[in-house]
Amino acid sequence: MSNVLIAPSILSADFANLGSAVEAVERAGADLIHVDVMDGHYVPNLTIGPPVVKALKRIAHVPLDVHLMIDNPDDTVSWYLEAGADVVVVHVESCRHVHRVVHAIRQAGRAAGVSLNPGTPLSSVEPVLADVDQVLVMSVNPGFGGQAFIPSAVDRIRELASMIAESGSAARIAVDGGIDVSTARPVVDAGASILVAGNAIFGSDDPAQALADLRAAAMTAVC
Ligand code: DX5
Ligand code: ZN
Repeated sequence: MSNVLIAPSILSADFANLGSAVEAVERAGADLIHVDVMDGHYVPNLTIGPPVVKALKRIAHVPLDVHLMIDNPDDTVSWYLEAGADVVVVHVESCRHVHRVVHAIRQAGRAAGVSLNPGTPLSSVEPVLADVDQVLVMSVNPGFGGQAFIPSAVDRIRELASMIAESGSAARIAVDGGIDVSTARPVVDAGASILVAGNAIFGSDDPAQALADLRAAAMTAVC
């Protein structure tokens, strides 16, 4: 597929130097900057919140793809919209009213995404496929960077791609967790067109080269 977007996850970047991390991957051609928000409740890790999203928005030249791994985004999604998130992705498992939340995101003129964990049935996102711009398939259990890719994600992406095609939705499939030069091709072959990668890019001595390598691996996909 020619139109694969690469979204480096700053979770694996040096938090003391986020600005330079973002600049480095933008120079290397990053399409989005993936920002992992974790609340210590929905996932067993605590990262960053609206002030950091707002600060990143001041310096970023590509859209901020903000992945909310938090309880009840219904209550706080507006914080991230006000902070300048361009894409807001919420988990179907943590929303009380997922349809209402994705509509609130779109109402604010931003792109909406819905994510699902490895143990969540694909059918849980079917009712909102027409209402989202992105479905984010987790290929690890969320909470940490550097985890091993869960292989069943490939079949889930393929099945989701069929569901999306049948529904007439224009949503892209994103995949997050354990994406590297070996997993990029199978997920793109299965139908993913946004690759989130943290450790494979920022865990490298040369993030720019790592991004280029990941893109090259994705481009070898046949679809
Ligand atoms: C995990 C996060 C991911 C994470 C991916 O819960 O949502 O975005 O940064 O990291 P890697 O690419 O290292 O698996
Ligand atoms: Zn993420």
